[in-house]
Formats: sequence, C-alpha cells, structure tokens
Amino acid sequence: MKALVLLLLAVGGSSHPVMSQTLAEQAQAVIEQRCLSCHSEQVAMSGLRMLTREQILQGGGRGPAVKPGDPANSLLFKVLSHSEKLAMPPTGKLPFEEIEILRAWIEKGANWPQGKKQAANTQWWAFSKPQRPEVPQISGVKNPVDAFVSQGLKAIGLEPVAEADKLTLLRRACFDLHGLPPSPEQSKAFLNDATPEAWERLIDSLLASPRYGEKWARHWLDLVRYGDTSGFEQDPYTLEAWRYRDYVIKSFNDDKPTTVLSRSKSQATSCGRMMRRRVLERAITE
Ligand code: HEC
Repeated sequence: MKALVLLLLAVGGSSHPVMSQTLAEQAQAVIEQRCLSCHSEQVAMSGLRMLTREQILQGGGRGPAVKPGDPANSLLFKVLSHSEKLAMPPTGKLPFEEIEILRAWIEKGANWPQGKKQAANTQWWAFSKPQRPEVPQISGVKNPVDAFVSQGLKAIGLEPVAEADKLTLLRRACFDLHGLPPSPEQSKAFLNDATPEAWERLIDSLLASPRYGEKWARHWLDLVRYGDTSGFEQDPYTLEAWRYRDYVIKSFNDDKPTTVLSRSKSQATSCGRMMRRRVLERAITE
C-alpha cells in the first residue's frame, strides 16, 4: 500500500504542494506545475520566463512581474485574480490555496528555495506520461481534435478563421498527401460532388493511392539520408539502395506501424554490409 501511495505521489501530475515544504519551495512548485509550460525557455509567452528569481523579477514585455514585498502591485499576483483583462493561467483560475501561496511568497520577499537556482521545467511535453484528456465542450466543432484546437486558440485570444473554399481545400489535401496539384479529373470530381461525404471520399482516395507512400516516404528517407549514390567526390552507385527506398514507400502505403519501421531501420544500420542486406530483405518480405 505504501509503495502504491509513493508511486501515486511520484506520477500525480497536479499534486498539491506538500506541507513540509518551505514557502519558497511551495511557490516554486506552483510555478513549475502551472506556469512553465508557457513561460520557460522553449516557450516564453510575452517574453516572460519563470525558471529563476531573476527572470521573474525582470518580467516580460510589460516589465517586472514581481515587486518583492508588495503583492498588490505585482503583475504576477494581479493576473492570478482573473479580475483584469490579462488573466493567468489563461485556461482557468488557480485554486485559492495556490494563489495564496504565491501571494504570501511575494509578500515575504519572493525568495527562491535555498540551493535551487532553477525550476525543473518538468512540464516539457516529452517527459509527461500520455493521458487521455477530456474533450472540451465547444459548440459548433465537427470533431474532438477541433475542440482542443479551439480551446487553445481561445486561451490566447485568437478566433479560428472561416473554412476554406472547396478548391483551396482540394489543393491543400493533394499537396499534403501527394505533393502534387490535383489533376483536372480530380478537381472536376470533387467540385461537382455536393454530397456531405465528398471530403471524406477525397481523403480516402488520396490515402489509397501509391502516390501517398511516395510523398511521405521522402521525409523518412531524408531523415535517414537516403541516396542512390554514396555522394560527395567519389560517387559510386549503391546498387541495392533502391530496395530500401521501395521498402519504405511500401511501408507507408501498407500503413506499417512506425515502431516496426524504426526497428528494421536501426537493425539494418547497426549490422555489417552483408547482414544489412539480409535484414533489409527480411524486412521487405515481412
Ligand atoms: C497556456 C499558456 C500559459 C500559461 C499556462 C500561463 N501563461 Fe502567462 N501568459 C500567456 C500568454 C499567451 C501571455 C501573453 C498575453 C497577452 O499579452 O495578452 C502571458 C502573459 C503573462 C504575464 C504578462 C507578461 C508581460 O510582461 O507581458 C504574466 C505576469 C503571466 N503571464 C503570468 C503567468 C503565471 C503566474 C502563470 C502560472 C500561474 C502563467 N502566466 C501561466 C500564456 C500562459
């Protein structure tokens, strides 16, 4: 049981600050959990970074975020109340206890925890365990992905643009999925199709075409530095290379999971030449 509780504490994303922490540690924990996703190195909204005390004192475009000893005149505290136009975090007001921690922390001089120069920035998305979030309730959206996009736009005060006209949509879909403009036949078929399923039908037909694998395999092949020759000054042909190219194209067209594709790629890279050929041959027939 104890182990379970410890485990839950370790993975709990929004656990409340532990009472044995000093005020400075509690304030830093709130900032880490609630603010760093938009105010650190990678993302610094309005120029504000909150990884160190100096950065917070310096503030963003509007000037110092904190006036030590004076919460009422500290921008950081004012935005937490959600009573003014600038309200943080934009997605909703913090629980009262957390606001109170930050208020008391500023009042006591906004000191940083002893021996800790920088907040951990553990909010970085790649370190977070994926969790299925609740779909925001937003009227007028056609699918759950749009609901998340709308919520994100709203949080930073942006309005979605109107839906593009049919011809623009068709061109975007063709360039995205095939890297080519639509053919006259494709344009005619799509523009004359007034049924509600027209868009879905178009996407299905683009995905079913071999052109799809040819376009998307290119990105993969670029990343693994595929070439038909060895390149540079001595430029012999690598005679078997096309097999790998075709294998990647086929993998995309067959919808092979990326994990399987990555595995055969790393096996092939780490083997000797003869072995590499065998691995590739095996992968091709998989
Ligand atoms: C989802 C992203 C997001 C989160 C999380 C977030 N902010 Fe912000 N913050 C913004 C954006 C966007 C702006 C710029 C808004 C504007 O200029 O209208 C901003 C601006 C600010 C500013 C004004 C900076 C300046 O000088 O212009 C302060 C202060 C601030 N945020 C404090 C906080 C605090 C404190 C937290 C955590 C409790 C927090 N923010 C969490 C997105 C976020």
